[in-house]
Amino acid sequence: MKTLSVFTTLLAVTAAKKCIVKDTSAPAADDVAVPSDEEIVEVTGSLEDVEDSSVESAEETPKKKLPADFKWGAATAAYQVEGAWNEDGRGESVWDHFTHLYPKNVESGDRTNPDSTNGNVACDSYHKFDEDVKMMKIMKANHYRFSISWSRLFPDGEAKKVNGKWNVNEKGTQYYNMVIDTLLENEITPLATLYHWDLPYALHEKYGGWLDYRSQDDFAKYAEYCFETFGDRVKGWITINEPWVNCVSGYRLGPGKAPYRCTGEAPRKLQNDTTGLDLEGGCSYEIGPSQYYKGAEVLPANRAPQRLEDVWCSHNILIAHAKAVNVYRKKFQKKQKGLIGITIDGEAQIPWQDANTTPEELENNKKYANLAAEFRIGWYSDPPMVGDYPASVKQRMGKDMPVFTPEEKKLLKGSSSDFLGWNTYTAHWAEQVKNEDGTYVQPPTDDEASFETSKQDMWDDNCRGRGEGWSCIPPTLGSQAGSSWNTKYGPTIRVGLNWFADRYKGLIKNGIIITENGCAQPNYKVSRANDLVTKEYFESIGQPEYADTYDESIIEDESNIEGSIINDEYRIDWYAQYLENLRLAYAEDGVDVRGYMAWSLVDNFEWENGYETRFGMTYIDFYNDDERTRVPKKSLEFLGQWYLENVEQA
Ligand code: GAL
Repeated sequence: MKTLSVFTTLLAVTAAKKCIVKDTSAPAADDVAVPSDEEIVEVTGSLEDVEDSSVESAEETPKKKLPADFKWGAATAAYQVEGAWNEDGRGESVWDHFTHLYPKNVESGDRTNPDSTNGNVACDSYHKFDEDVKMMKIMKANHYRFSISWSRLFPDGEAKKVNGKWNVNEKGTQYYNMVIDTLLENEITPLATLYHWDLPYALHEKYGGWLDYRSQDDFAKYAEYCFETFGDRVKGWITINEPWVNCVSGYRLGPGKAPYRCTGEAPRKLQNDTTGLDLEGGCSYEIGPSQYYKGAEVLPANRAPQRLEDVWCSHNILIAHAKAVNVYRKKFQKKQKGLIGITIDGEAQIPWQDANTTPEELENNKKYANLAAEFRIGWYSDPPMVGDYPASVKQRMGKDMPVFTPEEKKLLKGSSSDFLGWNTYTAHWAEQVKNEDGTYVQPPTDDEASFETSKQDMWDDNCRGRGEGWSCIPPTLGSQAGSSWNTKYGPTIRVGLNWFADRYKGLIKNGIIITENGCAQPNYKVSRANDLVTKEYFESIGQPEYADTYDESIIEDESNIEGSIINDEYRIDWYAQYLENLRLAYAEDGVDVRGYMAWSLVDNFEWENGYETRFGMTYIDFYNDDERTRVPKKSLEFLGQWYLENVEQA
């Protein structure tokens, strides 16, 4: 049995032991390293293992502060906060379309309220941005990460310049001009994400969205408009948010994330929500363009085979990112002097160790932790850094792995060398799984390798690497927060930062930015009560330690928001743990980490969890308060104080 005391001991040691030489002479923010047009970064050296060495414990380490130019702020995404879904000429996104079609796919505590299962109104930031800025001030933000809604600018997704004029929805431009100008007036630097999952629905209807190679150029054109229009003021661009989640949750796992497709599973018909979404049924190939139909194995050229939709979505989205970066570098970067990169997600993989683990097994687990990380994270971070998928991923996927052309590799390589954005929340154990007779399960041979065998992973004793969606609770570390996948375990951020820093040593010019990190409040209302991940559930699978913060008797409702909703001690402890580990990664390990964006500034539309899962540092009563009044939580003040105490003040 794995216990929390083992977690604590192991990770305190694991995290503190990393001692890696990094480039600590990184330039200051105003002196950013912008690449030249032709620059192609050569990859040198091997992907080394982290070497252990003994250092003092965290308590004894003299406190070194983060530098004065540290990017400090909070993050949100357009569909989650803006609302105004059909105002001022905005076009439909896949999220509008699918939440309207299948409202029951989204959790809601008040189904009598038509806005409770979608982002129609959300935080109404479209009309209340000034209120959001007030919240940023409380946490002393010097940056704000927001995303631009593609379909607010180009309702049908296709950006075109004809006779020198863009076919843009001017009202959309006005809105983002207002956002950017308001931030700058308040001395907050905008960090803009171009794509946070809200693909224009028209492109899904037209060619299957990210399943089709045409999405690459449509994205690059839309990006070009944004650079041209906002780039005089926006100096930090994130192309894509979390390609893994977008593609795996949207195209593989069925209900959950738009467009609710479910490659690799037997297609089952979703009912239109007039009768209720058949959540048992799950997913559908009926959703989407007509050429994607049940049983179709022969698809038009350049289309992903059905069983590999998430893989091809990922492939297209990575190339789309690289094409957008290329446009920026060729046409805008020299003049505008901004930075551009991608944001990827993924849990740090921690080598499993307990009292019975032999040194040999530990070594093996370290190797498998790295392989698991390559599969879960490197799949997405290697292409924009070194220009190709990791060799281990290609080996495991065999002939099912799409191949980048030489031109694509060239475009990809170094396309996130300005900075790398990483969203991190939780941690996974990793080990090589053993057969019943105690022998190791071996990786598939080259001949056997395929999408199917790649799923028979040999690490992560429960979830087995990539995981099987919601049917599997990964063996995460730490205490259970308010989302099934969201566990509090501070050292994970340090382990992950070190993994990136080692792997891409010398390749990231302006450091790593934590573009999201945050905590869903546990014991909050319906999602807790309805979620599979109850205390009983963990007990039933023999892992009660994962439910250690659970107390169903204190499931919150909103009749007394002063309780742990506003007084969010659990979240404060989350931030304290993660931020201290981030500081240690910088101060002790020399990792070049340049920023931290907390998720999230405000409670917002948490995708399939609707308004029933709260990640915000600001409370909003979504069901009863048409004004969407912002009420700061204690964590917002805590972050303001943390900033003053732990970041050098200029
Ligand atoms: C991230 C995502 C955010 C937010 C957060 C919390 O994966 O980028 O939009 O939802 O998770 O679930």
